[in-house]
Amino acid sequence: MNEQYKEMAGRLIVALDYPDASQAKNLLQELEGIPCYMKVGMQLYYAAGPDFVRELKTRGYKVFLDLKMHDIPNTVKGGAESITRLGVDMFNVHAAGGKDMMKAALDGVDKALQSDSALEKPLVIAVTQLTSTGQNVLNQEIGIPGTVKDAVIRYAELTQSAGLDGVVASAQESADIMSVCGKDFVTVTPGIRPAGSDQGDQKRVLTPGEAIRNGSSYIVVGRPITAAEKPREAAEQIIKEMLEA
Ligand code: C5P
Repeated sequence: MNEQYKEMAGRLIVALDYPDASQAKNLLQELEGIPCYMKVGMQLYYAAGPDFVRELKTRGYKVFLDLKMHDIPNTVKGGAESITRLGVDMFNVHAAGGKDMMKAALDGVDKALQSDSALEKPLVIAVTQLTSTGQNVLNQEIGIPGTVKDAVIRYAELTQSAGLDGVVASAQESADIMSVCGKDFVTVTPGIRPAGSDQGDQKRVLTPGEAIRNGSSYIVVGRPITAAEKPREAAEQIIKEMLEA
C-alpha cells in the first residue's frame, strides 16, 4: 500500500448508517485493510452506543462521531467532554446553535483533555446547512433568506470565529469556504455520489473526484458503499477516483 493511497483512503469517511453493531461489523469485515475513516451517526450510536466507538478505535480506525449537537451551551459542553473521553478523532455540532454554543464545545474538549493526558484533541467541526437542504427549504421552511451558498459561507465564518477546526458542507461549497476561511480550515463533505448512482434524499451532490478537485478535506460516503452489491469494490473505485483527481 503506497503512501498516496493511504493518505487518500484516510480522506474517505465511510458512513456506518446501520441499525445495529452486527450489520456495521459485516461492513468492517468487507472493507478490512482499507485505511479509511469511519463515521458513526445517530442511527448506529443510539443503538450500539460508546462500546461500538471503542471497538472501532481498538481496530485502529479514525472515528468521526456525527451526533450534530445543538443545545444550550452548558449541555453541549458536557456532551463534548463525554465525546472527547471516548477518544474519537472528530465530532460535530450545528453552527445554528451560535458562537457561544460552539465555544462551549471547545471548553468541553479542554476539560476532558485536562483530566486525561492520554487523550488527543479531536477535530471539532460544525454543520452549516445539511446537504439535503435545498433553496426552497432554506427560504420557505427554515426562513433564512438568500442562497444556500450565502447561508453556508456565513455559518463557516461564524464557525471559524468561534475557533472550531472546520465545517460540514456540500462539496459544491468547499472552494468558496476555502477562499473565505483559508486552506487550513477543514471541509467535510457528504452528499457524494459517484456518477450514475442514486441521489436519494441528498440535494447538493458532487462526485468523489469533483469533491477532491473542489478542495474538500474529507468526503463522507454512505449508501454508495453500504448499499452497493460489492461494497469493497465500490470503496476502492471511489478511492481510485479520488487519487485520479
Ligand atoms: O448515504 P449518504 O452518502 O447520503 O450518507 C451521507 C452521510 O452524511 C449520512 O450519514 C448523513 O447523516 C451525513 N450528513 C449529511 N449531510 C450533512 C451532515 C452529515 O448527509 N450536512
